[in-house]
Amino acid sequence: MSAAASPARVLDGAAVAAEIRDALRPRIEAVRRAAGRPPTLGLLLAGSDPGSEVYVRNKMRQGEGLGIGTALERLPASAAFEEALRVVEAFNADPDIDGILVQSPLPAGMGDDAERRIFEAIEPSKDVDGFHPENVGRLVQQTSTLAPCTPSGVMELLDRSGVALNGRQAVVIGRSDIVGKPMAMLLLHRHATVTICHSRTVDLPRVASQADVLVAAVGRPAFVTVEFVKPGATVVDVGTNTLTDRDQVASIFGVGSKKLAAFDRRGRVLSGDVHPGVAGVAGAITPVPGGVGPLTIAMLLSNTVQAAEQRLRWRA
Ligand code: GUN
Repeated sequence: MSAAASPARVLDGAAVAAEIRDALRPRIEAVRRAAGRPPTLGLLLAGSDPGSEVYVRNKMRQGEGLGIGTALERLPASAAFEEALRVVEAFNADPDIDGILVQSPLPAGMGDDAERRIFEAIEPSKDVDGFHPENVGRLVQQTSTLAPCTPSGVMELLDRSGVALNGRQAVVIGRSDIVGKPMAMLLLHRHATVTICHSRTVDLPRVASQADVLVAAVGRPAFVTVEFVKPGATVVDVGTNTLTDRDQVASIFGVGSKKLAAFDRRGRVLSGDVHPGVAGVAGAITPVPGGVGPLTIAMLLSNTVQAAEQRLRWRA
């Protein structure tokens, strides 16, 4: 039987995330003993975007579950950019804060370039998102210690699932600063031949179907269909799109599907960027939810511990 004929192996991100968190426990305890306090993450949540509320709550809950300290500062959606800047400057100056996370998106009223300016204001050694230009440069030069969480999580998942990268064709769909660009860099560092595709790419399915490893980070539900996928390829789905239209859920997942039943109970369901039909073609695939999502948070906690250990080494 060919690889294409059997359903894809499901890459269990939740299980890998649990392994990563378990490996952090002794390191957290060592920081606590040496510093007299746990590794500590400062978070800024400005506004009340429902998605951001959920993300920040999950990040704090999982951190606290491991014994990582958290300090949350909230600002109203009407806050001025300078108020956000003052929070970041206070976190920068606080010796008891190891990592800083400013949840994106910032409120629209803070201006078009607010995110770029706020990420640039974060002290690079506390930049657990890896978004500061110094850390982006280090990532490119392969000297980084704090790499962006979602792409690092994808690398952990691929490595721990035994997916080969050396010399293979990798295609990343999406060119965001948060996922697409750093993802491409991490794959390149592992000697994959990397192509970055985007909305202007001509004949995207043809380019994508060259990939041994295909990463979808476009933010469009079920965008990647079977024509995009080489039989047997590993497909990583970074999308977390909330669907609120029943017809769309029925057309993507099918009448009689579990997703449609879930929609009928809750009024919304999550869809990745990858169409469910791809599971019949791919060799391995990440589910949504339970694939990349849990890894992003695990890597954020890992970066926080890493930043705390670095501060201790400087102090020594
Ligand atoms: N919003 C969506 N993803 C992210 C992320 O990885 N980091 C931050 N700070 N905000 C986000």
